[in-house]
Amino acid sequence: LPPNLKMEEGCGLRRANCRAKGAAPGFKVAILGAAGGIGQPLAMLMKMNPLVSVLHLYDVINSPGVTADISHMDTGAVVRGFLGQAQLEDALTGMDLVIIPAGVPRKPGMTRDDLFNINAGIVKTLCEGIAKCCPNAIVNLISNPVNSTVPIAAEVFKKAGTYDPKRLLGVTKLDVVRANTFVAEVLGLDPRDVNVPVVGGHAGVTILPLLSQVKPPCSFTAKEIDYLTDRIQNGGTEVVEAKSGAGSATLSMAYAAVKFADACLRGLRGDAGIVECAFVASQVTELPFFASKVQLGRSGVEEVHPLGPLNEYERVGLEKAKKELAASIQKGVSFIRK
Ligand code: NAD
Ligand code: LMR
Repeated sequence: LPPNLKMEEGCGLRRANCRAKGAAPGFKVAILGAAGGIGQPLAMLMKMNPLVSVLHLYDVINSPGVTADISHMDTGAVVRGFLGQAQLEDALTGMDLVIIPAGVPRKPGMTRDDLFNINAGIVKTLCEGIAKCCPNAIVNLISNPVNSTVPIAAEVFKKAGTYDPKRLLGVTKLDVVRANTFVAEVLGLDPRDVNVPVVGGHAGVTILPLLSQVKPPCSFTAKEIDYLTDRIQNGGTEVVEAKSGAGSATLSMAYAAVKFADACLRGLRGDAGIVECAFVASQVTELPFFASKVQLGRSGVEEVHPLGPLNEYERVGLEKAKKELAASIQKGVSFIRK
């Protein structure tokens, strides 16, 4: 490690000792893929989160620089950097929450599934590390294709004997963030006052916004429903095309990931009534994984909420979503079991 990193770590340890004398409690969080397009703003925002006492930044490139940079922020969390596979175990040991945005992003013309060949192996390796070093951590999995990487992670944990379905969550919060924004635009409301449940998965038709369950209660014309459903399902592609080969959503994703991670940490702390949409092990449909509203608590996912009443448009969408999801889930499972 470069000298500046060593020094930062030393200072961090002294500060961690001060905390032990009765300062604010906090959680230990690792970001894997911390030097990437999502990883960097996510690391910055997590450094600002008062629930975080220790922040580990792991990547296979550039993590020393990102760590040095972020460590100068005068917030409470102690930051430590870890570079390359040889330091993965140190990065993970003792963590309460592990957030994974590691992996390649889409370019125009690609589907999320086109990322499978590279990202499946990355997620497998990182989850093997988690199983070994912090098997009780909550895992927030961002790497695409989420519909397959979550089943991959589950299979890795099963193989290691550490699988707890309550602790593995695929991050679909960006779909909710987008849905809130686009619905608020149509209704002429402040997006902060809007809450749209988005269920299913995180790719194309598997992203199923439940516009009949928007809070505050409202109604849409058929044209608005078509427009909103299409825009929410293709929000990722809209950004990929606008970035013209320079990657996919990073800033809105970091924002969504931090909101989601914060909800997980508040759940771990014991706060009541925390409900978020996430792609988790589920019995809500016949599929083994499905995104829906889940209640977060001290053990992770404490309750998976049913979908609630769907209208005919949503029932048709659900059947389409389930068909694609089943194949994506099976692809992930087979990758490990093969
Ligand atoms: P990026 O290429 O900018 O960053 C990815 C980072 O992962 C890089 O720093 C890279 O070095 C690192 N990495 C690669 N292999 C690694 C390994 N084995 N261990 C640790 N780190 C490794 O990409 P990005 O824009 O940050 O996107 C990352 C992933 O997140 C992509 O798969 C993308 O599709 C996905 N994504 C998901 C959502 C979602 O809603 N779930 C939203 C946006 C992007
Ligand atoms: C998104 O929804 O923005 C991400 O899944 C990235 C992508 O490839 O669209």
